[in-house]
Amino acid sequence: MKKYNVAVVGATGLVGSTFLKLLYEYNFPIENLTLFASQKSAGKTIKFGDKDYIVKGLEKGCFEGIEIALFSAGGKVSEEWAPEAEKSGAVVIDNSSAWRMVKECALIVPEINLEHFDSARKIVANPNCSTIQSVLPLKPLEDVFGLKRVVYTTYQAVSGSGMKGKNDLANTLAGGEPQFYPYNIAKTCIPQIDVFTDNGYTKEELKMVNETRKILDKPNLPVSATCVRVPVMNAHAVSIMVELEKPFTLEEVRKAFESQEGIKVLDDPQNAIYPVSTVANDNDLVYVGRIRRDLSCENGLLFYCVSDNIRKGAAANAIQIAKALIKENKI
Ligand SMILES: NC(=O)c1ccc[n+]([C@@H]2O[C@H](COP(=O)([O-])OP(=O)(O)OC[C@H]3O[C@@H](n4cnc5c(N)ncnc54)[C@H](OP(=O)(O)O)[C@@H]3O)[C@@H](O)[C@H]2O)c1
Repeated sequence: MKKYNVAVVGATGLVGSTFLKLLYEYNFPIENLTLFASQKSAGKTIKFGDKDYIVKGLEKGCFEGIEIALFSAGGKVSEEWAPEAEKSGAVVIDNSSAWRMVKECALIVPEINLEHFDSARKIVANPNCSTIQSVLPLKPLEDVFGLKRVVYTTYQAVSGSGMKGKNDLANTLAGGEPQFYPYNIAKTCIPQIDVFTDNGYTKEELKMVNETRKILDKPNLPVSATCVRVPVMNAHAVSIMVELEKPFTLEEVRKAFESQEGIKVLDDPQNAIYPVSTVANDNDLVYVGRIRRDLSCENGLLFYCVSDNIRKGAAANAIQIAKALIKENKI
């Protein structure tokens, strides 16, 4: 089996370290591994398997010979360096939002739309974490019943803000003052993720709207979202209200979810079986439950899903894209 020269950009971060953990866990075919972070981390060593790797800073020509570059170092780094890696011939899989809405760059959840990859443009974007776990259950609903309208409400863990978010929750839980969030995250939910735009929505909310439309190939689908940060260390939850085109039974809906690769249905409310954040920790599934009729419109459905935002919402989805492209001989 062919092995690849792989680079991880942002290797010291939350997503970057999960990349390394999963590359090892999945036994990804690596010939050479190169780790990049900011200049302040250059020279640090990171263990991968039984070998120590020295972290490097980014510089001109640093992607020469790299075939797969996994980026998770923020939008600015991706904007500047992903084209450089692409020019060197690498397929870039980028976790930031920098390339997601660029028309020629595919935005991929591999179970849904791998065919969007176009080898003419080798920067592939990994969608926003809450969007990935939401579109996975929406896809079988679209295929069987048709989607007419979607409304998201999210309950997003602090790990979604990277190390700074996790440290702020740990610190405020221990009685310290907030250092990162605008309110004490140990004591309250915060209905703001990212900055507000002119229409009253945050950037995170608009990412969910626009990325859902792009992934599902439904540019005019009515979608809106409210995104909330909650005092949970890891795993995002999303409550999804969807208006379907066709009438449905709840049994048919359950079957549709169960037929989708990557989803596990947990839905026996009488016995307190439903998706809680802890069930998603450290695995790659999207858990779906609380499946019921929406009472406010015809053909309306409500359900709830949770997923590990650092794994399926970021690192796992990106590596699954790489594996799927390798399988189709596109890398
Ligand atoms: N956390 C999530 O749930 C999640 C989900 C999906 C996507 N993402 C995206 O993934 C990216 C990273 O998120 P994270 O949560 O892993 O953040 P993080 O824990 O803060 O890590 C950031 C990483 O980027 C590196 N970095 C910063 N500036 C750099 C520069 N100028 N050159 C090279 N490397 C640089 C950092 O290196 P140093 O250690 O040297 O500073 C670190 O390795 C972001 O774009 C984020 O939006 C995060």
